[in-house]
Amino acid sequence: MDTRNDMLKLLRNRREGFSLPQAFYTDPAFFQLDLDLIWYRDWLFVGHDCEVAKPGSFFTVQVGAYPIVVLRDREGKLRAFHNSCRHRGSRVCNAQKGTSARLVCPYHQWTYDLDGKLLFARQMAEGFDKAEFGLKPVACESVAGYIFICLAKEPAEFAPVRQMMEPYFAPHRLGEAKVAFESTIIEKGNWKLVWENNRECYHCVGNHPELCKTFPEAPTVTGVQGAEDDPEIVAHWNKCEAAGLPSRFQIDQSGQFRATRVPLLRDAASYTMNGKPAVQRGLSHAVTEGRIGSLLLYHYPTTWNHILGDHAVTFRVLPISATETAVTTKWLVHKDAVEGVDYDLANLTHVWTETNDQDRRIVEENAFGIASPAYEPGPYSQMHEGGVLQFVDWYTRFIEPRLSEGGKPALRSVA
Ligand code: FES
Ligand SMILES: [Fe+2]
Repeated sequence: MDTRNDMLKLLRNRREGFSLPQAFYTDPAFFQLDLDLIWYRDWLFVGHDCEVAKPGSFFTVQVGAYPIVVLRDREGKLRAFHNSCRHRGSRVCNAQKGTSARLVCPYHQWTYDLDGKLLFARQMAEGFDKAEFGLKPVACESVAGYIFICLAKEPAEFAPVRQMMEPYFAPHRLGEAKVAFESTIIEKGNWKLVWENNRECYHCVGNHPELCKTFPEAPTVTGVQGAEDDPEIVAHWNKCEAAGLPSRFQIDQSGQFRATRVPLLRDAASYTMNGKPAVQRGLSHAVTEGRIGSLLLYHYPTTWNHILGDHAVTFRVLPISATETAVTTKWLVHKDAVEGVDYDLANLTHVWTETNDQDRRIVEENAFGIASPAYEPGPYSQMHEGGVLQFVDWYTRFIEPRLSEGGKPALRSVA
């Protein structure tokens, strides 16, 4: 309770327009509150439909203390479960991904059906009722190829996310794409620093030579203000919308997710060093316009995305500790695109592999400096860091009322 009061006090006395006090980026007790009040409550992007395309295919993901398995059942339905055996709690699936007709716990081979039901438990006492020991379900939804889970017992409605995001995603057919490559990097910085860095391009010109060949550093592109007043962006929206691609800037009321389509520099088609497509085969046959720039979507706290004509780059943020964050990047291409024929993997992944590493270093340096006893919150640039201000506002607005709810979260995090 003391930590809640400490956090509340700091939030209420926070200087508007300034970065957060040190404890938000370094304190393990504050990190635990972030987990309890945000990560264990909100909808989280975990992976793509195309990664669990066939019945029995699964992937696992760790959200704070919770190991989760996401799978497609025999009927083709997506499901998520707590990856903790109902016998003595062992992790049931320990592979990152795979395909299995049933889930068999490696410890004593309790065997679960893909709908979570316990099918076999060897030599248990008479009267043992298997029906009581199915895997615990986790809320799971998918929108246009993006799978979200929610650990709360009573998840918030998913409909607003679906309603806003689906029209933007749908023409790009990400549900039918394939992951050409994925990478996970661990950044030694708090998850909020990873986001703060993502929400501005004030740092781009000094740090991202490869990305800056094609991605505009204008705050109207990355941030949340002024896109409607930028004639180049408006012309781009008009062109793309005439081609059937929803493009206009939209942000939901709570500020948790946003979509907008932006032109790339010099009418580049893709994030390559020369701006030319990295994949010869378009991502979606529903997209016929050639220069569609990049569709930018984010959903706090787990994902930001760049969807281009020839491929998509999707990002997943997962917190590990107060000072460590895992960032997983996936490059999605048309499911029939062939490596070495339609695309060269090094060319496809070069710009964002470099950019990710540069961002990792920036975040780590930021975390280093913040850990200093001499650190104090500093002012964001109104012009360039509107997106960061918006992120911090969102964080504050989400966590503050939850802190005041009393000794315990209103929604228990355990299903
Ligand atoms: S802990 Fe899973 S079968 Fe024993
Ligand atoms: Fe960056």
